[in-house]
Amino acid sequence: MRKTITDIQQMKSRGEPIAMLTAYDAVTAALFDAAGVPMLLVGDSLGDNVLGFGSTIPVTIDDMVRHTAAVARGAQSALIVADMPFLSYATLDTAVAAARRLMQEGGAQAVKLEGGQTMTPIVRRLVECGVPVMGHLGYTPQSAHVFGKVRVQGKSAAAARRMVEDALALEEAGAFALVLELVPAQLAAAITTRLRIPTIGIGAGPHCDGQVQVSTDMLGLRDDFKPRHARRFAELAPIIRAAVTAYIAAVGERSFPADEHSSRMDEATLQEALEGLS
Ligand code: KIV
Repeated sequence: MRKTITDIQQMKSRGEPIAMLTAYDAVTAALFDAAGVPMLLVGDSLGDNVLGFGSTIPVTIDDMVRHTAAVARGAQSALIVADMPFLSYATLDTAVAAARRLMQEGGAQAVKLEGGQTMTPIVRRLVECGVPVMGHLGYTPQSAHVFGKVRVQGKSAAAARRMVEDALALEEAGAFALVLELVPAQLAAAITTRLRIPTIGIGAGPHCDGQVQVSTDMLGLRDDFKPRHARRFAELAPIIRAAVTAYIAAVGERSFPADEHSSRMDEATLQEALEGLS
């Protein structure tokens, strides 16, 4: 049975921490799902973690639909949340159109968008249309060029107060959960206790109702990149490099493929096929 937004919200009511992970393809989504992760995010971090861009900004709605559909094919149980890409929700009409594609073509059960009070008309409209919406406050990567630098948000009294007000406004507009990215732990705790909906932190301390990690970070797939908020639960980059080096060597010395990787045909049939050919 696929998890629902009610299941996720009940985890908050029960005080059960919510583990969320990004996924971008069917194979890893199936692995994460089998391990029991209740919620997968098809993040627009697709841009910098899979597609080779330097940020989330070049990611298009076509990219998101394609990868969301792959994740939805791979994961049978997790609730799938898909990111609305850069500028796809700048107006009510484009927001509805993007959400339609992510849910109808991509198979997502919910969407995520970045921003506070200015986004509440969009959140409200989507929820009225039957689209569950996850909010995202703190450092919002689609505004990278406005921020100028990746840094913790909400450190001044005014910025912290604005973030609490933004969080309450998103809840009031109908958001079912809220990501807090790069937020001081005490501020994330203050927001978490004031909201009925779950908060999901990334670089926001231990007091959020759940945590989300970018899967390439926590699996150690990019050894040139280790953000402070990420813990490497595995170091896959050296394992993959060693496997590929071994493969190249095996091809080079002709020890691969071996008999068990090959098939044979009847000799007479082959001779018949080759007869008369130079
Ligand atoms: O795109 C993404 O991976 C995200 C997470 C960082 C929350 O938005």
